[in-house]
Amino acid sequence: MVIAIDGPAGAGKSTVARAVARALGITYLDSGAMYRCVALAALRAGASLDDGVVLGRLARGLEIALANGRVSLDGEDVSEAIRAPEVSAAASRVSVHPEVREAMVERQRALIAAGDYVAEGRDIGTVVSPDAPLKIFLTASDAERARRRAAETGEPVAVVRAAQATRDLRDRGREHGALRAADDAVAIDTTGQSVDDVVRRIAALAAAQGTGQ
Ligand code: DC
Repeated sequence: MVIAIDGPAGAGKSTVARAVARALGITYLDSGAMYRCVALAALRAGASLDDGVVLGRLARGLEIALANGRVSLDGEDVSEAIRAPEVSAAASRVSVHPEVREAMVERQRALIAAGDYVAEGRDIGTVVSPDAPLKIFLTASDAERARRRAAETGEPVAVVRAAQATRDLRDRGREHGALRAADDAVAIDTTGQSVDDVVRRIAALAAAQGTGQ
């Protein structure tokens, strides 16, 4: 069983998805961390971020493990390294390539087939798990999303907002696995809402459907 939580960067997905998983006692899957691992590996290897074939091959060869809130890449803990701003920008670029997306979607499907998950990303409800019984599309105003990210990374809000606009455009505009709400997704605008309120709302939706119990 999967609860899919999609939406743009800074909408609150990670915080909310982690808290919903904890509240329901099921596993959290951060699909963005996987694309970030591909980006980090590509940067380290000096691979072209525009070469889908090379990046797809690279992506298939990586050992990516997500456990206990940590992310490891080929045995190295990269939990902090994958959050660097240059990795965020590169993740948005490597994730446009269908070869990379296929490799990641395959892994995500294999993981979620084996248990109950709250999975967050851009295409969980549309591509990875279109049969998920509960799909949430989280949004927030551009200003609030930039403020939240800046508070996390320590960068100036204006810098974050500009980088965010570039990533949003690429994430929404790409041909494969574009960021969009599934037709049957419940849209929640988190602007000005507390994490607890959003988590309670999603837990209530899950309970109403008999999901996650
Ligand atoms: O959620 P995040 O910021 O960690 O995601 C990093 C990048 O990965 C983002 O720019 C888009 C991409 N991504 C994706 O294409 N599909 C997903 N399911 C998750 C993330």
